[in-house]
Amino acid sequence: MDYIKYQDKTIRKITGGHQDWYKARGNVWGERYMKEKENILTKERNKKEARIIVKYLPRNSKSILDAPCGYGRISNSLAALGYRVTGIDISDYFINLAKKQAKQLGLNVSYIVGDILNKKITGKFDAVLNIFTSLGYLEDDKKNELFIKRLCQYTKRGGRLIIEIINPVALTKDYKEKEFVLLKDGTKLYFNRYFDFRTSTSVTKIREVKRGSKTKNLVHIIRLYYTHELINICRKFSCDLINVLDQDGKEKNIKNSLRIWLIFQKK
Ligand SMILES: C[S@@+](CC[C@H](N)C(=O)[O-])C[C@H]1O[C@@H](n2cnc3c(N)ncnc32)[C@H](O)[C@@H]1O
Repeated sequence: MDYIKYQDKTIRKITGGHQDWYKARGNVWGERYMKEKENILTKERNKKEARIIVKYLPRNSKSILDAPCGYGRISNSLAALGYRVTGIDISDYFINLAKKQAKQLGLNVSYIVGDILNKKITGKFDAVLNIFTSLGYLEDDKKNELFIKRLCQYTKRGGRLIIEIINPVALTKDYKEKEFVLLKDGTKLYFNRYFDFRTSTSVTKIREVKRGSKTKNLVHIIRLYYTHELINICRKFSCDLINVLDQDGKEKNIKNSLRIWLIFQKK
C-alpha cells in the first residue's frame, strides 16, 4: 500500500512529493528539532528511559544497538552505564552532536551515519532499541515492514528488541489538530496535524517563523502502528512480545498512555 495514494484526498494534497521527508534534505532533523524538543527530551527523561531499558535487557547484556539513535541521548546514557553501544542514524548532523557529547563525557560509543534499511552493521546485539517513535517513516507498509525486519535481524537469539512508540489509541482520543509553540529564542512554530483513518498515517505540517529570516514549511508523515500490528510483524521475524508497558514503564495504564513500550524476545 502506498499511503499517499490511499490517503484522504485533502491530506494527499499536502503529502504529495514528501516521500523523502525523513532524509537530510527534508530538514526535519536539525536545529529546529533540537530547540523544539529541549523542554521535552530532558536529562531526567533520558535517565528514566534508560532505567526502563536496563530493566528489560536480557541478563548479562553487553552489546546494544540504538537504531536510530538521533543525537545520542539514549546511546550516551547507556554507554555511561558501561554498555557497549552502537548508534546508527541517517542524520549526520545528529551523529556529530552525539559524538561531541560522547567525547565530552569520555565515552566510547560506535556511531554510524547511515540508513537502517541498507547500511550493513556488523554483528548481532543483546538488545536493539527503537525509541521515540522512530519507525513508520517510509512510504508504504512493505518498506516499513522491511525496516522492522532489520531491527529483528540485528537482535541475537535470546536478545531483546525494545520499541517505544506513540500509542495511536491514546493519540486519537485527543488529537491536537492545531498547536502553537513559542521557542526560547522567539521562533514561532505552528503545527497543523491531520490523522488519516484510511491509512493510519499522521501528517504534520510545521510552519516555522523566525525573526529576521524566511518562514520555513516542513511536512512529515508517519504511519502509526497499533500494538497488534507491530506484534504480528515482529513475530514473522522471530521476535515474540513479552511485555507492553505504559510511558512510565508500568503494565497499568496502556489505553490512556500516549507512549508505549513493546518488549520483544528473539527466538
Ligand atoms: C524521533 S527521532 C528519535 C531518535 C532517537 N531514537 C531518540 O530517542 O532520540 C527519529 C530519528 O530517526 C532517524 N531516521 C529516520 N529514518 C532513518 C533511517 N532510515 N535510517 C536511520 N535513521 C533514520 C532520524 O534522523 C531521527 O534522528
